[in-house]
Amino acid sequence: MIDSYPLLRPWLFSLDPEQAHTLTLSNLDRAQRWGLLRCLVEQPAADPRGLCGITFPNPVGLAAGLDKDGKHIDALASLGFGFLEIGTVTPKPQTGNPKPRMFRLPQAQAIINRMGFNNDGVEACVKRVRSSAYWQNGGIVGINIGKNASTPIENAASDYVTAMEAVYEVASYITVNISSPNTQNLRALQGDEMLRALLGSLHLAREALSDKHGVRKPLFLKIAPDLDQGDIKLIADLLLEFKIDAVIATNTTIARDAVQGLEFGQEAGGLSGYPVRIASTEVVRSLKQYLGNAIPIIGVGGILSGKDAEEKMDTGASLVQLYSGLIYRGPKLIAECAAALKSNLHALKSLFDTETAFHIVQFC
Ligand SMILES: Cc1cc2nc3c(=O)[nH]c(=O)nc-3n(C[C@H](O)[C@H](O)[C@H](O)COP(=O)(O)O)c2cc1C
Repeated sequence: MIDSYPLLRPWLFSLDPEQAHTLTLSNLDRAQRWGLLRCLVEQPAADPRGLCGITFPNPVGLAAGLDKDGKHIDALASLGFGFLEIGTVTPKPQTGNPKPRMFRLPQAQAIINRMGFNNDGVEACVKRVRSSAYWQNGGIVGINIGKNASTPIENAASDYVTAMEAVYEVASYITVNISSPNTQNLRALQGDEMLRALLGSLHLAREALSDKHGVRKPLFLKIAPDLDQGDIKLIADLLLEFKIDAVIATNTTIARDAVQGLEFGQEAGGLSGYPVRIASTEVVRSLKQYLGNAIPIIGVGGILSGKDAEEKMDTGASLVQLYSGLIYRGPKLIAECAAALKSNLHALKSLFDTETAFHIVQFC
């Protein structure tokens, strides 16, 4: 199948990043409505993975932030993802930070963003999920929730509970995002007392919602890469104590060492893409060490190839998610990662060299 993204990329990269983002998604919607996407984009082979009571058709998902409002669910699903995570959505709509707020750093295959949870509010998002054909046909839609910028950090739990109540019926799983660097003090929620209080409130609210709806929806926590061993151990203990179902590692980083001297390298916000890969993988490794098989880990951060996806799984992840890699590699990356992670690849690797094993899996 011809990969047209390398031809389109120079033109897209000549546009403002946020404009390119909007334009790409509206064109994807059009292509999907015309039934073109499934023919134009290589579809990964089925490779189901069972996790938290959900069967994921393949282990490669879309990371939060690319479709904050759930406006492009059917188009994105047609690219071959095993699951989509939409959001971050907040209880009330908000415009986010002033533009420009998204920057490309092509030499580093990276992005810096300070979007600030721009979104139409949780109710609008829920309506869009319900009207998507993907969701109606049983597709997996995780919804990532956050707090409004105007809500004081002491009242954060009330925003998360409100958002959880609103998404509970439609979400396949709910992700609690406490790791974005673009909402003031949000990452302080990763600290001992605040996290304990937040998870306590969410635990109680989830129990009540489980009783009301007769179904227990999985609750995931998304954490930052800028944590030391002590922080990670503490988070792991709280995940176990409050029966959180999975942990997503990681969000973007505030570190800038890898992009020193590059254009836009000192812009405020979260850095994603290749420079966050090692830090994210190290968080996955530490979480695995503390959690063992008790709580599954979803690996995200700097996956730009099938090999990077494998690295996350080899370190302890059970699923992976992509964002910045899609901007640098295009949708082909999804099938490439899915092929690399195909359950039998590891077995084949013991019989053949990596490249041969990879080709056999792609061929099958
Ligand atoms: C422009 C942009 C916006 C993002 N917005 C969100 C968001 O709203 N919520 C969230 O949990 N993560 C958000 N992220 C973080 C990604 O989901 C992901 O965790 C991070 O970018 C690392 O993965 P990557 O290196 O593959 O991009 C955003 C990332 C980018 C680049």
